[in-house]
Amino acid sequence: MLSDKIQKALNDHYNAELYSSYLYLSMAAYFGDKNLTGSASWMKIQSLEEMVHATKFYNFIEERGGRVILQQIDQPPSEWASTLTVFQEVLKHEQHVTALVNDLVALSMEEKDFATTNFLQWFVGEQVEEEATADSVYQTMKLAGDQGNGIFLVDRELGQRVFTLPPDMAIPGL
Ligand code: FEO
Repeated sequence: MLSDKIQKALNDHYNAELYSSYLYLSMAAYFGDKNLTGSASWMKIQSLEEMVHATKFYNFIEERGGRVILQQIDQPPSEWASTLTVFQEVLKHEQHVTALVNDLVALSMEEKDFATTNFLQWFVGEQVEEEATADSVYQTMKLAGDQGNGIFLVDRELGQRVFTLPPDMAIPGL
């Protein structure tokens, strides 16, 4: 059973993951508009991965006998100063999400809800990966120089990313 405090914190974080998905989808649309199809595809996959993160929270809340409460999702930005700025914002956003996850871990320990602490460990590891990936794309984009041939090469490389639905997210029968 979840305490009211933990249930509220998990629902808030569920909303934060949905916002992440929404933010990256908005970035995908920005790149699509600029005909940077590889970057748009990379962002769509990033958005799907955030939906997977969100769904892990949804499932965990239900598994613990809690109640999933959907909240309003903030409108993400739709314009950025440059392609490079977008990836800088991805890195900043992931650092922000890491801070949210760390606060959640601290709260779960304070409340002695160790099942939640255990559940959150996956996200602690995932955030290390998320920040490393975002930083790597940002650094590559910086080297490419934000425009001209370099960006088209990076864009093509970003288009190679593939999405794999984790087995625990698979829909039975499909
Ligand atoms: Fe769900 Fe990219 O953190």
